[in-house]
Amino acid sequence: MWVLVTGGAGFIGTHTCIELLENGYNVIVIDNLSNSSKISLDRVRKITGNSIEFFHDDVRDKDALNKIFTNYDVGAVIHFAGLKAVGESVAKPLEYYDNNIGGTINLCQVMDAFNVKNIVFSSSATVYGEPDVVPIKENFPLAVTNPYGRSKLIIEEILHDLHVSDKDWNIALLRYFNPIGAHESGLFGEDPMGTPNNIMPYITQVGIGILDKLKIFGNDYDTIDGTGMRDYIHVVDLAKGHVAAIKAMGSFDDIITVNLGTGSGYTVLELVNAFEVTTGIKIPYEFVERRPGDIARCYADVSLAKELLGWASEKTLNDMCRDSWNWQSKNPNGYE
Ligand code: NAD
Ligand code: WQD
Repeated sequence: MWVLVTGGAGFIGTHTCIELLENGYNVIVIDNLSNSSKISLDRVRKITGNSIEFFHDDVRDKDALNKIFTNYDVGAVIHFAGLKAVGESVAKPLEYYDNNIGGTINLCQVMDAFNVKNIVFSSSATVYGEPDVVPIKENFPLAVTNPYGRSKLIIEEILHDLHVSDKDWNIALLRYFNPIGAHESGLFGEDPMGTPNNIMPYITQVGIGILDKLKIFGNDYDTIDGTGMRDYIHVVDLAKGHVAAIKAMGSFDDIITVNLGTGSGYTVLELVNAFEVTTGIKIPYEFVERRPGDIARCYADVSLAKELLGWASEKTLNDMCRDSWNWQSKNPNGYE
């Protein structure tokens, strides 16, 4: 079966392409390379020995999508394409709504026209806002505080409406927690443009000497050591969750919404400590003010993922640290 992966040249996308190919799927990628490099897909081809059809196009371009759906018998779509930087979304809300929401509407319109009604969508734990309790279950109240998060929530709602209008749509909304780690080959990983916003690429760039020291945002949260707690999940486990969702397409009457996390929370200091122990690299840090919008604790209840998809994460925090470092040390400047 052909699977169209939008945003397939990106961090989670490349890892998912590998898992799809290894599970016997044929893969088409559409990516405008606004936050990625074609080199990642060349490496996917090399490591898997499989071909990937690549279209350097934008999901907001209907002609480009029409061409793909005309030429390939697409069975399902995994929709990663979108902008993802929370801070940037506050500065450029229209770009985020245009790209994320506009892109999704365009994609669904073309899918509908070609009668392809299977879609897996990249949502985010950010839609839960600050939860009253942890672990977070899928039926918890939703609250978003920035345009990025709002774009994810609006898309979830649009996809719900689509399913109400036409029950033939099979839709999986996957809410990712904090993906880190990298493929064990060291050929693929997170390659942020400019100074990283997320913690793991920041740590590895300190490790390699690009950045001086980690700034830890706040040490007065209500956690064991005062630093923020998150559910870090290995990107390869996350990619496997997508294959599980593709395999489950059509088995449910309703749209499904599933957390993809490990079910465990680690604080920033625990993460730094795990990184140092695993890699032997010292990460100097200092405490600074809390980052606006950050929350104290966030980790997933993962029972629904097990029940509906038969999927659970397998890799440990040490695996994540080892593989992130392996990627960074083998590719000090990312893909380029
Ligand atoms: P990424 O930026 O590495 O990948 C996104 C890809 O989409 C990039 O290759 C980019 O070039 C492409 N893209 C962006 N807009 C496009 C458009 N209009 N048309 C075609 N291609 C376009 O990000 P990622 O970390 O791999 O995230 C993938 C998805 O998962 C995103 O939708 C993101 O919002 C979501 N998500 C990510 C995280 C995370 O922490 N990484 C957490 C939760 C959800
Ligand atoms: C993790 C922890 C920080 C950087 C973001 C998005 C979310 C989702 C995942 C897409 C927090 C602390 C961080 C640093 C630090 N993405 N930190 N110093 O904020 O949980 O989630 O990425 O959907 O929407 O908001 O991830 O990696 O930025 O932060 O101390 O330089 O590390 O305060 O406790 P976050 P993160």
